[in-house]
Amino acid sequence: MSRTLLYEGKAKQIFQTDDPYEALIFFKDDATAFNGEKKGQIRSKGMLNNAISTLFFELLDSRGVPSHFVKRIDERSMLVKKLKIIQVEVIVRNIVAGSLSQRLGWPEGRPLPRPIVEFYYKDDALGDPLINNDHVAVLGLASPEELAHLTAEGLKINAVLQEHLLSRKVKLVDFKLEFGRFDNRILLGDEISPDTCRFWDADTDKKLDKDRFRRDLGQVEEAYQEIYNRLN
Ligand code: TMP
Repeated sequence: MSRTLLYEGKAKQIFQTDDPYEALIFFKDDATAFNGEKKGQIRSKGMLNNAISTLFFELLDSRGVPSHFVKRIDERSMLVKKLKIIQVEVIVRNIVAGSLSQRLGWPEGRPLPRPIVEFYYKDDALGDPLINNDHVAVLGLASPEELAHLTAEGLKINAVLQEHLLSRKVKLVDFKLEFGRFDNRILLGDEISPDTCRFWDADTDKKLDKDRFRRDLGQVEEAYQEIYNRLN
């Protein structure tokens, strides 16, 4: 398979394959936080995020949530359908943490009475600002119908992941999704991993995600490995 680099992000490389409708994602160990201000590496992260994302995409597929996932190729690579990414990050939250804690002045760990769905404009230069439906429309990022679909998919994905994780003694605090267009459909894209979700141990609330890197809490690799172990 020939491999032409199409795009390099902070944590992944995307390669063109021989099939014009497919791409190969290579998961790196590189980690950044605060829009690239903090940089580092998390040993084995690429391998673990590839494996964890594979498990979640397979689970979601079995529950009727379509994604770009085609198959896992090797330890660090995944074959996917090549999407035209919608420049809206969809964040779903069950428990107050991170930027929501700052925005509302509520303590981290407070359970929300119902899940919250937020949209962020996927634009590094602007620092991915929070936006609403009107901003999405004026920016021409997605139609109202598409946005309603992203919201419904976000909530469905939340229900599926939350239940599965809880059975493995993990609380799903919040997570980020990206979607893209493919053949007149909208598919879930990107990854679902400790880089893009907050996972807390169900008994102790110990953080098992990238917050350990963002906040210098130590035992970063161990947290990613722990999530992988519990899902297997
Ligand atoms: P936040 O509380 O910082 O807004 O993050 C909410 C969720 O989104 C959290 O699970 C981490 C994830 N996230 C990303 O995947 N990429 C990002 O760039 C940021 C800021 C958060």
